[in-house]
Amino acid sequence: MKKNINIVILAAGQGKRMNSALPKVLHPISCKPMLEHVINAAKELNPSKLVVVYGHGGDQVQKVITQKFADDNIFWAHQDQQLGTGHALKCAVPSLDQDGVTLVLYGDVPLISSATLTKMLDKYDDNLVMLTDVIDNPFGYGRIVRNESGNIISIVEEKDTTSEQKLIREINTGFYVLPNHKLSGWLNKLSNNNSQGEYYLTDVVALAHKDKVGINYVVTPHSYEAMGVNNKLQLEQLERIYQINQANKLLEEGITLLDKSRIDLRGKLTAGKDCLIDVNCVFEGTVTLGDNVTIGAGCLIRNAQIANGVTIKPYSIIEDAQIDSGAQVGPYARLRPGAKLAENSHVGNFVEIKNSQIGIGSKVNHLTYIGDSSIGKKVNVGAGSVTCNYDGKNKFKTVIEDDVFIGSGTMMVAPVTIGQGALIAAGSVITKDAQANELTVARAKQMTIVGWKAKNKK
Ligand code: UD1
Ligand code: CA
Repeated sequence: MKKNINIVILAAGQGKRMNSALPKVLHPISCKPMLEHVINAAKELNPSKLVVVYGHGGDQVQKVITQKFADDNIFWAHQDQQLGTGHALKCAVPSLDQDGVTLVLYGDVPLISSATLTKMLDKYDDNLVMLTDVIDNPFGYGRIVRNESGNIISIVEEKDTTSEQKLIREINTGFYVLPNHKLSGWLNKLSNNNSQGEYYLTDVVALAHKDKVGINYVVTPHSYEAMGVNNKLQLEQLERIYQINQANKLLEEGITLLDKSRIDLRGKLTAGKDCLIDVNCVFEGTVTLGDNVTIGAGCLIRNAQIANGVTIKPYSIIEDAQIDSGAQVGPYARLRPGAKLAENSHVGNFVEIKNSQIGIGSKVNHLTYIGDSSIGKKVNVGAGSVTCNYDGKNKFKTVIEDDVFIGSGTMMVAPVTIGQGALIAAGSVITKDAQANELTVARAKQMTIVGWKAKNKK
């Protein structure tokens, strides 16, 4: 039965145990606020209304979320005092469609999937649909109470359970689908006459039973989908679950991971055929790999396009860079924003490249800084060379044309151009353009001071 779907996300909790100035629902899983994950799952159901109930740290929550979902119409309902989950949902009622159906989600239960929510909606027929789970240690959860015929009749909160009810292993995950035309009536009837003095949303189940509204349920396909975060321990657990799920997907897509428990993907990674990723790599933003790309251990790669046959050797850090086919990077290389490596170029250990192009087949292999530079084809930059691009105020460009050989330990003081085919002697400080096809030497002449040693001996 299809109706207007309204989704309410309860997110007013403070999260004291997070020991943080950041509101709980903004704590990240895989670099994205928990609430963002929940909103993404919600959006996949195309709701006619999406309402977030906020409270603690509300301004910050609203600011972050409205920025991230600028194109979406998110309704905000303020809960000034946390009087319970029933009260929280009541704060959202004015924003709901009269004839709609409401799905209740939680800002601190981030791994709920749209597939599970869809299963719940599929069981909706003007009834109440719950998401339940059966777990070994149900302590702390609301327990599902069934009658002799096996029908759900109520939920009892841990603190209100009898010793007999404590043994029930079927628990309430807190997710519900509810008919809007019944909802206000039920919420108005809630009392806070219980051990926690709260208006429990769970009590709507008994009210539905009394009203002879059908109560149906879906069993959580994966327990983690209903796991909430109250502290850093649980945040870490869900992060690991999220990561292992992503790693499984990468393996299914045919990417070789040497250890699926030692990769973190905090964004999107796509790869062609025969790519291999060694242990302890972190990927952020959008990273694309062509075919036959090998990534060594311990690399951090953020927003990069890496073409066919590229080898990234261990412990390299790559950010906002483009690497063309056959290039080799690392070990211990750092590519900063705007680094563009052409085909078959090499960037070796302890080399930093920023906002620069390295031409086809060129090599910058050892202990070098290249910034704001354009390097042509088949250039060799010797060890320990620096493009001096900054005078403390402004940045300047260095141009190194094709077939240049830069001797080791050369300082190129920008703006400066090294002409095609030029050879720069090691240890030069180049402050003027160097002529094409000629040898330029710019260093103090070596001399020997005869007898100096003898004179200075006592
Ligand atoms: C709730 C359920 C319990 C279920 C468990 C699953 C109730 C009364 N109990 O218990 O049956 O097993 O979830 O995790 O619903 N919130 C507000 N405003 C409030 C109170 C809560 O926004 O006034 C939000 C919290 O931020 C939190 C969520 O609602 O995200 C759940 O509230 P919490 O107090 O943690 O409920 P539980 O005791 O975990
Ligand atoms: Ca909770």
